[in-house]
Amino acid sequence: MKITKPKFVRNEQALSLSLVRQLAGRRFVILTDEIVAEHCMPLLAVFLQNHQPLDIIEVEPGEVSKSPEVCIQLWDHFIELGLNKTDVVVCLGGGSVCDLGGFVAKTYKRGIPVLFLPTTLLAMTDASIGGKNGVDSLDVKNVIGTISQPEAILVYPSFYETLTRRQYVSGLAEVVKHAVISGGELWNDVKTMLSNEHSISLEILKRSAEFKYSIVKQDPFEKDLRRILNFGHTIGHAIESACMNRADQLEHGIAVAAGMLVETELAIRLKLGEKKELDEVKEFIRSGFQDYWIEMPRWNEISPFLEQDKKIKAKKNVFALPFSIGRLEIVEQVPVGDVEKAYNQFFS
Ligand SMILES: NC(=O)c1ccc[n+]([C@@H]2O[C@H](COP(=O)([O-])OP(=O)(O)OC[C@H]3O[C@@H](n4cnc5c(N)ncnc54)[C@H](O)[C@@H]3O)[C@@H](O)[C@H]2O)c1
Repeated sequence: MKITKPKFVRNEQALSLSLVRQLAGRRFVILTDEIVAEHCMPLLAVFLQNHQPLDIIEVEPGEVSKSPEVCIQLWDHFIELGLNKTDVVVCLGGGSVCDLGGFVAKTYKRGIPVLFLPTTLLAMTDASIGGKNGVDSLDVKNVIGTISQPEAILVYPSFYETLTRRQYVSGLAEVVKHAVISGGELWNDVKTMLSNEHSISLEILKRSAEFKYSIVKQDPFEKDLRRILNFGHTIGHAIESACMNRADQLEHGIAVAAGMLVETELAIRLKLGEKKELDEVKEFIRSGFQDYWIEMPRWNEISPFLEQDKKIKAKKNVFALPFSIGRLEIVEQVPVGDVEKAYNQFFS
């Protein structure tokens, strides 16, 4: 399977040119959300002057649109528009729009082409890459989904300039995740940069996105190596699920940062690796993200969701745990008491 590599574009002209190359002579719809439409659609003006979409479909912003109900509305709308296999669904948005749009397009008529225009830092470094798309059901994250590559991923970093601080920090969490998994220069550079200014350069964003691409390329269907990208996600998804019905939803990356902290503590408790290095990871994550962990759920609120995590095979729990910086391993059947103690150390 050919894995789609994110292509970075420097300015509006280059973005327009890439879109023309990809879409000229083809019918396409733009799927976006109401907030992204307001902030990012104007940056497509050059392209849209001469290339009109069949429709611009706006969904409600955020995780709430990753639902089977919204999928049905979109499939029905695609049928009404007469979309077919030569048409393209352009997803303009963060991870929610990419996950939703990718899944709906890849299940409509057994799959029609998708193009991603990620607009959040998180989607640029992570969610738009790798072809995993899906929606939630019964508060369980990404429980219905596909693995299927988009036709193209065009990353125009200026899109993310209108993000709120919390949304930006949420994206930083996935950059940190890639840095811990990669180790080496990426870890050193991310650590230095975030310690100094709590933001990252375009060059680091590119390397982070390319790191994810390199892992997916080796294991597109998450049979083995790709599972290490789930670092922080077993706990992070349970936290997100427990927060799903709150008025103020917790951003994905901020939940993942909490998950990485707990899972690093878990690795230390289980005496799995280099304690000194794991303490360094723990301290780096805690100091960088603790200001954003508001009203975290208690253990008894998240534990039911740990049992429903889609990574659980035959009732075994599964974690991608750090053994050192640059070395993660899949660990199964971790005693629940240890997970609880690790969680309660920070979020009781
Ligand atoms: N498929 C994958 O491999 C993968 C990987 C990581 C995360 N995800 C998924 O991605 C989702 C989170 O994605 P996200 O963090 O991008 O959040 P999101 O897409 O929900 O967007 C967050 C908020 O930011 C707004 N927004 C988006 N772009 C903006 C911009 N440029 N300016 C101003 N506001 C903007 C949105 O309208 C929304 O309100 C989760 O559902 C997560 O499960 C998927």
